[in-house]
Amino acid sequence: MALNGVLRPGFAQIRVLDMPAAVEFYTKRIGLVQVAEGADGRVYLKSAEEYDHHSIVLRRAGEAGIDLLAFKCLKDSDLDHFQQRVESYGLGVDHVSAGEQPGVGRRIGFTVQTGHRIELYADADESAPNPGHLNPEIWPLEPHGMAARRYDHALVYGPNIDQTLDFFEKALDFKCAERIDLPDGTLAVWLSCGMKAHDIAFVKHPEPGKLHHVAFELKDWNAVGHAADIITRFDVSIDIGPTRHGITQGQTIYFFDPSGNRCEVFAGGYTYYPDLKTRVWDETQLGKGIFYYERQLNEAFLSVVT
Ligand SMILES: [Fe+2]
Repeated sequence: MALNGVLRPGFAQIRVLDMPAAVEFYTKRIGLVQVAEGADGRVYLKSAEEYDHHSIVLRRAGEAGIDLLAFKCLKDSDLDHFQQRVESYGLGVDHVSAGEQPGVGRRIGFTVQTGHRIELYADADESAPNPGHLNPEIWPLEPHGMAARRYDHALVYGPNIDQTLDFFEKALDFKCAERIDLPDGTLAVWLSCGMKAHDIAFVKHPEPGKLHHVAFELKDWNAVGHAADIITRFDVSIDIGPTRHGITQGQTIYFFDPSGNRCEVFAGGYTYYPDLKTRVWDETQLGKGIFYYERQLNEAFLSVVT
């Protein structure tokens, strides 16, 4: 077993303005299923292909955005290990009790230099529907909406990108798969804790703690086209796409949930190995790096965050 420590993105807690509209959007349009609703009104969702209890948490609030990004570790003792390393690095660590979210064990949390709260946990119950472990069907529930297969990653905006990269590399064992270097310094980094081209990405921005997008993986390029049909059929607010990234090489489309949080559905992307050197993009090919077909950035993609 080569993968250990921090394994993958586990769940994201997103702030929404209108809960019924958000639930309809993430279930009917994105294709997730609701697995629980907490006494405090938070709603828990996941893809039917995911085993763990949930991967998206919706919390009603007066302002859209992201509360926290939680990553799953292989074993409970990893939490003590990373607490020690995060504290040695110089960041404060707090504890969240098991059961604060249904089906999730104890978590540790800390705020990284971009202003985002990151949490680690190791234990999660399974929830239905899931493919099961004996004679699993290709899908336990007929795919619906965009047929998202899993919550995959988030891209967030904030200051101190170089410091955040250093922390993720030294304290959490992430690797930098790709980076944008501009003449005035690092603009963005794509970080992997496993074998995907990215599990979290950061872009330089003056305001801390902002969300650019949460992303869901689809089966293939045809599924991205189907997502585009749904976006138009239901008049979902669109940002850009379908298109492709040079960075990570994913085939993608960006759009907004009813609260204004940007979502991505994508397919593809290369397999990452930790011995690969960081792929670097500079100002001469930045447009192609972000949008490979258009070869230029759009203003909303750079400036609209929640
Ligand atoms: Fe993305």
